[in-house]
Amino acid sequence: MSLAAAEPATAPPRVIPTGAVLGAELSGIDLRRADDAAFAAIHRAWLDHAVLLFRDQSLSDADLVRFSRRFGDLDLAPVQETGRRFVDGHPEIYVVSNVVRDGQPIGSLGAGEAVWHTDMSYLPDPPKASMLYALEVPPAGGDTSFCDMASALAALPADLRRRIDGLEIKHDGTYNSGGFVRQGVQPTDDPRAAPGAIHPLVARHPENGRAVLYLGRRRNAYIPGLQLADSEALLDALWTHVARPEFAWTHRWRVGDLVLWDNRSTMHRRDAFDPATRRVMHRTQIKGVGMQSA
Ligand code: SIN
Repeated sequence: MSLAAAEPATAPPRVIPTGAVLGAELSGIDLRRADDAAFAAIHRAWLDHAVLLFRDQSLSDADLVRFSRRFGDLDLAPVQETGRRFVDGHPEIYVVSNVVRDGQPIGSLGAGEAVWHTDMSYLPDPPKASMLYALEVPPAGGDTSFCDMASALAALPADLRRRIDGLEIKHDGTYNSGGFVRQGVQPTDDPRAAPGAIHPLVARHPENGRAVLYLGRRRNAYIPGLQLADSEALLDALWTHVARPEFAWTHRWRVGDLVLWDNRSTMHRRDAFDPATRRVMHRTQIKGVGMQSA
């Protein structure tokens, strides 16, 4: 155990909102030393701001898993596009990286854009939170943006809001956010046939009670009960609305950043970056339960 890990925690972190509709930086905290009081402050800030940034952390994989477990049981990392699981000894850690070692990608998603999505919403019980820890970052590009789906819902024009009342949405389990086909899945581009869980389109956040628009991802999404063309038109209208910049905040990464997001009330996307540069991130996910309608 390192000296820092053995020391008592410092004071609870200072919460500095980003000024955007979501997100806050929590400063003055070494996450290896977060005691119960510090964790309670972090948990409160997470529910209030949806996305939290902790700068200048120095976390081993074990530290990352230990801190993540404060929020609940962890999901095992999904299997990489190539069929491999990730970090030896830490099956909860998923590697997001473009780095290729000995001819094998060490992680997922490459260097291209990762489109707007909510993590694993094609499952009946998507994770309630994700944490991404930056080990290597490129000199440019690879920024991650977050979108606040409670604000997006609240600002929805009344006619669109009425049209989605009581509807559900099927979330695609075929493609990941980098456009890669998931392991063991037969690729299809027919949203009606694509595998994936059905969730309410307007859901109630189980912890802070806010109503959120629960879109998941655009590709292969489908609104059961509608003709395909009607489902596509309604989804296009919703996605045009949520793409408005006032619902988003963008994070420019530094090594040692840990970002924690509420996976029930946000979506995220990542910019492409130069594939000749390196980006290595370790991710954990905290188990959640199915979304309930608002
Ligand atoms: C993800 O989409 O989960 C990864 C985001 C990132 O690489 O910044």
